[in-house]
Amino acid sequence: MPVPTIEWEGGVDGRIRLIDQTLLPVEFKQIYCEDVESVWQAIRQLNVRGAPAIGCAAALGTVLGIQHSTAESFQDDLKKTTDYLATSRPTAVNLFWALDRMKRAAEADARRSLDELKEILLGEAKAIIEEDRAMCRRIGAHGATLIHDGATALTHCNAGGLATADYGTALACFFAAKEQGKTISVYADETRPLLQGSRLTAWELMQDGIDVTIICDSMAAQVMKEGRIDLVVVGADRIAANGDAANKIGTYGLAVLARHHGIPFYVAAPSSTFDLSLADGSAIPIEERPGDEITCGFGRRTAPLGVNTYNPAFDVTPAELIAAIITERGIIRPVNAANVAVMMG
Ligand code: MRU
Repeated sequence: MPVPTIEWEGGVDGRIRLIDQTLLPVEFKQIYCEDVESVWQAIRQLNVRGAPAIGCAAALGTVLGIQHSTAESFQDDLKKTTDYLATSRPTAVNLFWALDRMKRAAEADARRSLDELKEILLGEAKAIIEEDRAMCRRIGAHGATLIHDGATALTHCNAGGLATADYGTALACFFAAKEQGKTISVYADETRPLLQGSRLTAWELMQDGIDVTIICDSMAAQVMKEGRIDLVVVGADRIAANGDAANKIGTYGLAVLARHHGIPFYVAAPSSTFDLSLADGSAIPIEERPGDEITCGFGRRTAPLGVNTYNPAFDVTPAELIAAIITERGIIRPVNAANVAVMMG
């Protein structure tokens, strides 16, 4: 990223600065969040999006929620803030993981002074961001071992630097392969309805000088049949204990297509995206978004007024369709509950 995807500006009384992802690639603009409501809106409206970046936003948003607290109101403000931010989006578990970490950091040091507690929470939020950067680099290093020189990959949605603190998860594998001197080409699904693939992934890959070709989501089968794709790499929003992985709507279909065409299908995600409390993907909450994202995308009506819509934002790919999960700790393969437990234990 030319500037960090999301960062804290100033001391405890500071504010959040983030890249507005709704405007890219037409306009590159940073926006500021100075209260919890604006962070909630930024997450809900996808100004900041992608599972790890949502976690970073929630952590920094928690600091906004306690920065003006008194000793009497601190615990109450912390609870209200974390409860409220938890309602912003339901699927990416990184949101809840980051909020839990912030609550635990405050509990562990509950006998500190008010000023110390505020500094501790700011430090914890910054640590979450720094750890995410480091995890993405390691995911890239592991993922690049699966990519041969001259390979062509397909990806869906955006799992790049914009979706994380930096560097990405799925896209990290491509960036790292290129840094190792490999030639790599990428097909990017445009990713209806909000076009994270054509707006964000294509923009990021072009910035890095990686050859990228956009296709409509519905073209993936044909492109695979034509023998153009060597591997598929996608990110994830929540991975259950057995390896079932939720990601942007359309991912499951790609995995089915990849299996049919004998193409390896990889998921790249940090440990903060695993939800070991869920035995399998059936209990992963799937966000349903407003129908006008389908009928009136980016302000232009493309369907009759009043038509019915159904707009689930994510789907769940069963573990048996995933050739491997690339994490910062190593590669989980084959993908099953035992191997997830060993890597994430
Ligand atoms: O609705 P979004 O844009 O937040 O969905 C994002 C995705 O589905 C990403 O693929 C996922 O969060 C992985 S990001 C490293």
